[in-house]
Amino acid sequence: MTHEILQMCSLSPFLEQELRRRFVVHRWFEVTDHERLLAEHSASIRAVVTGGHVGIPDELLVRLPALGIVAINGVGFDKVNLEESRRRGVRVTTTPGVLTDDVADLAIGLIIALLRGIPESDRFVRENQWLKGDRPLAHKVSGKRFGIVGLGNIGMAIAERLAAFGPVSYFDLKPKPVPYTYVRTVIELATQSDVLILAATANAATHRLVGREILDALGPSGYLVNVARGALVNEEELGAAVLEKRIAGAALDVFADEPNVPEILRTAPNVLLTPHIASATVETREAMARSVLTNLDAYFLRQPLPGAIV
Ligand code: 8YV
Repeated sequence: MTHEILQMCSLSPFLEQELRRRFVVHRWFEVTDHERLLAEHSASIRAVVTGGHVGIPDELLVRLPALGIVAINGVGFDKVNLEESRRRGVRVTTTPGVLTDDVADLAIGLIIALLRGIPESDRFVRENQWLKGDRPLAHKVSGKRFGIVGLGNIGMAIAERLAAFGPVSYFDLKPKPVPYTYVRTVIELATQSDVLILAATANAATHRLVGREILDALGPSGYLVNVARGALVNEEELGAAVLEKRIAGAALDVFADEPNVPEILRTAPNVLLTPHIASATVETREAMARSVLTNLDAYFLRQPLPGAIV
């Protein structure tokens, strides 16, 4: 029997191909008449496959009576209501481990690109501005003090890489047995850091955690880097802080309302933007796809789910 599944967003070509090979796939993000899709298929949809940045809205979750699993192609589960899933007996899986290196690598790339002005330098050469003189001096990365908010797997991988550049401190709910300095509050961490890197989960406690107060603690020579979730940042206050030079700059891979990016961030100088690409490599997306498929196959075979969080 071929099971019916609901796909919430576009996924890597490999994953889409494998899903089509195994299942009847309804593509929620391409269907215009959602009510009709639900009228015809809600009773037979057994699985949802979705991105960490997309999840599944509560209103939809409660309208799929045959749903047994939400398989997230990613590690973030902030867009899936775990409590409601548990209540309804719906399993939730993620793809732990396989994207950690990529996200940490991108964080390092963003830090170097931001402080050294790599995107501006590239434009400078292409536009032949070099003929008129040199670029203004940039800022040194080695020796900076780095502060990481959230020392989970990704935060830890970022710390390991940054330790080659300068002293690393971190904030988390409690200290961990690691060779980095624990700081008890995010505001203290911001005060003591030249570069503040967000690697924490999005939840009620971290919602818009980084606003005016934290940014002012980071100060005019400080930089903010976000590879976690846009929901951690008050984007308007960040835009204002950069424009008013109350911080030196920001590099952002994630936004509160993707793919919409506030104009203030798109136009502010010293803001480096990437379109949520931290795990977007051929190698990692293939590993994530295999992890999603393993979880789905295990679910339909009634076997233990390796990536289960619910
Ligand atoms: C992906 C992510 O961009 O892991 C996550 O939580 O946000 C990213 O890896 C996304 O989930 C890809 O579908």
